[in-house]
Amino acid sequence: MKINYPDNEEFYSLPFYVDTRVLIPRNDTEILVDQVIKLSKHFSHKETVFIDVGTGSSAILTAVVKNIQDAFKQAIWLDISTEALEVANINIVKNNIQNKAQLFQSDLLEIIFSPSFSLQSAQNLFITANLPYIKNGDIGNMDQEVLDNEPHIALFWWEKTGFEMYERLIWQILELQKTKKFLNIVLFIEIGFDQYDYSWQYLSDLWLKFEYFKDLNGIFRCVKIEFNKNFIC
Ligand SMILES: C[S@@+](CC[C@H](N)C(=O)[O-])C[C@H]1O[C@@H](n2cnc3c(N)ncnc32)[C@H](O)[C@@H]1O
Repeated sequence: MKINYPDNEEFYSLPFYVDTRVLIPRNDTEILVDQVIKLSKHFSHKETVFIDVGTGSSAILTAVVKNIQDAFKQAIWLDISTEALEVANINIVKNNIQNKAQLFQSDLLEIIFSPSFSLQSAQNLFITANLPYIKNGDIGNMDQEVLDNEPHIALFWWEKTGFEMYERLIWQILELQKTKKFLNIVLFIEIGFDQYDYSWQYLSDLWLKFEYFKDLNGIFRCVKIEFNKNFIC
């Protein structure tokens, strides 16, 4: 069944254009935005770089940037899908932040490791990611409307736990940490409703400091992960 897309979808009280090229931003993802804004208030925005991985409609970082009053160092929207980036660009213009935005096609954070990429050094790096996390086994339980309309690259990674893509991202961040471009790196991710135990064990095994936040249904779906041992937030 085809969805009749409205002219604007609302996310974090902001207007977003969406179509079949991107995931429709979900209300539950606003919890992640709340946490980024809350934490960022404790840091100088001028010394903060923001990166949104798997940006889709651009919703997460656009909402963060629109709600941060003062200037920040750099803001980067990444997606592997060029079609999604076309929609992200529409929304960045719609929300009038085009003079602050940098959009790139990238497999997770891959592009920022390229020698020609101009990633600024800063005290803080905040990375946000709502990546495909639906397990192979869960496809049968999905809403037909979602399967018929939303891009499968936004939903599935065709693997066992659904956390595999976050594992790759975490290893990229551990590599990035070695460059010493940032004093503090914080990753905010959205996970599936049944990924608490698996993710808790995975993050504990890496000795990372992390904290979970509940979604609107009281389920732990947002995780804040710190990559600097001495950093207290
Ligand atoms: C669940 S959607 C989330 C979209 C948006 N961040 C949101 O919260 O509404 C996942 C997004 O990740 C992108 N994606 C999938 N694989 C990726 C990869 N390897 N690297 C970067 N982005 C990827 C998809 O194209 C899709 O836009």
